[in-house]
Amino acid sequence: MSFRTLDGVEVAGKRVLLRADLNVPVHDGRITDLTRIERLSPTIRELSQKGARVVVLSHFDRPKGKRVPEMSLAPMAKALGEVLGKKVRFAEDCIGLPAQQSVERMADGDVTVLENTRFHVGEEKNDPAFAAEIAKLGDLFVNDAFSAAHRAHASTEGVARLLPSCAGRLMQAELEALQSALTTPQRPVAAVVGGAKVSTKLDLLGNLVGKVDVLIIGGAMANTFLAAEGKTVGRSLQEADMHATARDILARAQAANCAVLLPADAVVAGELKAGVATRIVAIDAVPGDSLILDVGPQTVAKLTQQLAALKTLVWNGPLGAFETPPFDAGTTAFANAVAAATQAGTLRSVAGGGDTVSALRHAGVLDKLSYVSAAGGAFLEWMEGKTLPGVAVLEG
Ligand code: 3PG
Repeated sequence: MSFRTLDGVEVAGKRVLLRADLNVPVHDGRITDLTRIERLSPTIRELSQKGARVVVLSHFDRPKGKRVPEMSLAPMAKALGEVLGKKVRFAEDCIGLPAQQSVERMADGDVTVLENTRFHVGEEKNDPAFAAEIAKLGDLFVNDAFSAAHRAHASTEGVARLLPSCAGRLMQAELEALQSALTTPQRPVAAVVGGAKVSTKLDLLGNLVGKVDVLIIGGAMANTFLAAEGKTVGRSLQEADMHATARDILARAQAANCAVLLPADAVVAGELKAGVATRIVAIDAVPGDSLILDVGPQTVAKLTQQLAALKTLVWNGPLGAFETPPFDAGTTAFANAVAAATQAGTLRSVAGGGDTVSALRHAGVLDKLSYVSAAGGAFLEWMEGKTLPGVAVLEG
């Protein structure tokens, strides 16, 4: 798929409506992670330096069409100003008089953030009248919010139909990284899928078995596959109603020549609690009264060895209960091996999803993979092979 970018687009003196994703983590009213804002800043800097009037659109949280003061984008506008090192204005609404007046007052190079698009019901409904109100504020539309591109909303999809539109630099980087990992990967390519439930990742697994050479399954979802193969998983988290589905996925993988790697050993304990006594057991010797909480060292060694034979790896989901030490060991060791192969230049590695990003940060290798997507749901839907409406509208 090819998409329009900012290359060759004349922006000087123009009002550029820039769809950003300022949906950043906030705790007790304070922004706790600036990653999304930092990643967005090169596009804003470029536009501003080229003399555009940058009008930033975004949602924050899920106010469901109501004005919720705690969900205002005012703090994000302030944080953006700090990251950019320049004054960023804020408009009290994203349509109507407050927005129009703020935009009219802008000079070339200025940046203004408009209030939360989701304060209006028309946003999530992709209401054409609401999209037209937004479109009045710009001469062209630039979408830099890959992480919101799975939503067919007025500010991600509707408005792109009303104005000349293209991808911003962050969206471009995301799409190029993702395409190089699954659409046109250098082979052999492997996918690592972890996390709790098979049921939430059925589409993902179904898509991957037809695309990758090796599928590595970890996390509690591996328990479902192991149990489906008749192994004892003790009291571990697993989905008994998914056994037939798991067997079907394994059969489809075999038919597609996709090797599936399940854990060979496990770290087990009596409960999921930091610092509890643990045991390492072979996967066919899990005691009936214990829980599988991480992959064991033999599995990590096997996966690390596998990395040497790979050219591309795409990763979504941790291998164990990494938030609770010592069950972070497997994910951290594997993350380090992926980082080392990437840094040595033998592997292209792309990862994404909220838990995966936390696990990579925990392992201290967030900046050592080829690309780590800041997207959650959008990354997952892309891995599922779905068309993202906010991307499809930029095709061309
Ligand atoms: C995200 O954080 O994944 C995006 O900003 C989308 O948010 P949403 O799930 O509320 O649409």
